Amino acid sequence: MVRDTDVLLHERRIFEPDEETIQNANVKDWEAEIEKGKDLEKYWAEKAQQFEWFQKWDKVLDDSNKPFYKWFVNGKINLAYNAVDRWIHTEKRNQIAILYVNERGDERKITYYELYREVNKFANALKNLGVKKGDKVSMYLPMCPHLMVSILACNKIGAIHSVVYSGLSVGAFVERMNDARAKILITADGTFRRGKIIDLKKISDEAMLQCPTIETVIVVKHTGNPIKTSELSGKEIFYDRVIEGEPAEFEPEPMDSEDPLFLLYTSGSTGKPKGVLHTTAGYMVGVSTTMKDIFDIQDNDLWWCTADIGWITGHSYLIYAPLLLGTTTLVYEGAPDYPDPGIWWQIVEKYGVTKFYTAPTAIRHLMRYGDKYPNIYNLSSLKILGTVGEPINPEAWIWYHKNVGKEKCPIMDTWWQTETGMHLISPLPVSPLKPGSATRAFPGVEADVVDEEGNPVPLGKGGFLVIKTPWPAMFRTLYKDEERFIEAYWKDIPGVYKAGDMARKDEDGYFWIQGRSDDVLKIAGHRIGTAEVESAFVSHPAVAEAAVIGKDDPIKGQVIKAFLILKEGYHLNTDLIEDLKRHVRHELGPVAVLGEIEEVQSLPKTRSGKIMRRVLRARELGEDVGDTSTLEE
Ligand code: PRX
Repeated sequence: MVRDTDVLLHERRIFEPDEETIQNANVKDWEAEIEKGKDLEKYWAEKAQQFEWFQKWDKVLDDSNKPFYKWFVNGKINLAYNAVDRWIHTEKRNQIAILYVNERGDERKITYYELYREVNKFANALKNLGVKKGDKVSMYLPMCPHLMVSILACNKIGAIHSVVYSGLSVGAFVERMNDARAKILITADGTFRRGKIIDLKKISDEAMLQCPTIETVIVVKHTGNPIKTSELSGKEIFYDRVIEGEPAEFEPEPMDSEDPLFLLYTSGSTGKPKGVLHTTAGYMVGVSTTMKDIFDIQDNDLWWCTADIGWITGHSYLIYAPLLLGTTTLVYEGAPDYPDPGIWWQIVEKYGVTKFYTAPTAIRHLMRYGDKYPNIYNLSSLKILGTVGEPINPEAWIWYHKNVGKEKCPIMDTWWQTETGMHLISPLPVSPLKPGSATRAFPGVEADVVDEEGNPVPLGKGGFLVIKTPWPAMFRTLYKDEERFIEAYWKDIPGVYKAGDMARKDEDGYFWIQGRSDDVLKIAGHRIGTAEVESAFVSHPAVAEAAVIGKDDPIKGQVIKAFLILKEGYHLNTDLIEDLKRHVRHELGPVAVLGEIEEVQSLPKTRSGKIMRRVLRARELGEDVGDTSTLEE
């Protein structure tokens, strides 16, 4: 959401940490920790010592070939070994690793030892199917333990996972699968959503017709949506069958620090999604350190991150960081307001959640139902809250603080991205907080706000958010597209990482993120490219040309406003609007929330034919269009 900066600049409230928070904190002195982080290599090397390495690194950071940084050079490590196996020789053996709950009230508790056995069985099964180190395995699965087991089993083998968010539909799914050229797909018979079962298998069947590289499809029986063995094609096999009789031991593959860990697709300015590539050791160090210090992770914590595993927040902070820290992680499959808008708070009370991490859009959505629901339940187990995904408006921050945190839980507003892998700008529990600001860069990270030439802008002025030093969980490239990696992030402002966000810095050095500076929309915290939506529209027989912009929305942050030139013989009536909505949903999935569709006779373009969305946006908001000297039509 592009924010009303006037409101932000007038936001003066400061929330200081209380005594109890300071006493519990892993990091008690924010300033001193930031100071410590200035010795980058020493700081991160210390953090890397928490893990068991097969072979220690020779060099913490290799920056000889910028921006292709390398971390923990020549180290050998295995992520799943550190996230699972390491704990089974400790008192955590019988501790719950994964607490799965769904909207029907079913629950499943999986201890570290049980997880160890399940991951090993599945790793053996994948190996038998021919999966080797470096192979790609895709997943199109609901929020369920099987997805976590699949991810960890890939780690054990050294296979690269590529999870496709189960809210994306056929078109987006096919595009991601074919770019990754995965060999195996793991999917399920469905997912629970608001009392219904969404048939994921049907979507994946349709997608598979266009995904030639997939040799085997493994189907998890998750919802009881009946699929008979006789209905499976020759390529398909049930998960239960595949692990049958497999041994519960597996020798983890020693991975080089820089071996690829996963691919995760995200939207950029062009129609083609970016395959963000993360590697092993630096990622492990980055996600575990940030979670531990930002959320003050202790042995008795019950951690709940509400993000979907299909996005980076789910990867880093629902699976990887919590397990690397030996925490219990709660996975909830369901919507925040079903069967009623108190369901999240009911779960917090029932299980005693201590740390809770969600998105501003969810808070705004729940705020709509008033103060009643969070106040029905006893939320006193909560100690720290978090938000991520988009700027949080001060009003939502205050509501969350008062009604959920009962004015005693600090709110960690964490700024980061699919590309960054880990939190980069965030307070710590001991930091003084300002509602709506992600505060300062995490220790060991250097951020700034600069102009187009890379010069720092004066305090309070808007500019481009950049990161000036490398960080361990940084993505290493865009899959099969080094050129785009450099073009999109490292070229415009040399020597720094350009995040694609606009921001301001205040007199205390606090960052106020304003929203994207590129053609990427943030709909309910989900990132979606305008060009992707436009190509979905253009693939409909009635549409000749399309341009879309983000329009502010009080709950979702942004929704899509589309301007369409229709082909001859078509008129924009209710039937066509419905059909267009259905079509875009089929191509992209429910993440593409359509606000308005408007028929136009022409679109503003540059002489080289690029759509000037800026002009459409200005027209929509009734603002000055600005410089239109490059405008052709
Ligand atoms: O615009 C910023 C916004 O989300 C973008 C990254 O989106 P994605 O890669 O999908 O990852 C989301 C989860 C990490 C950023 O460029 N964003 C993320 N967190 C915040 C935020 N904007 C403001 N405040 C945040 N805390």
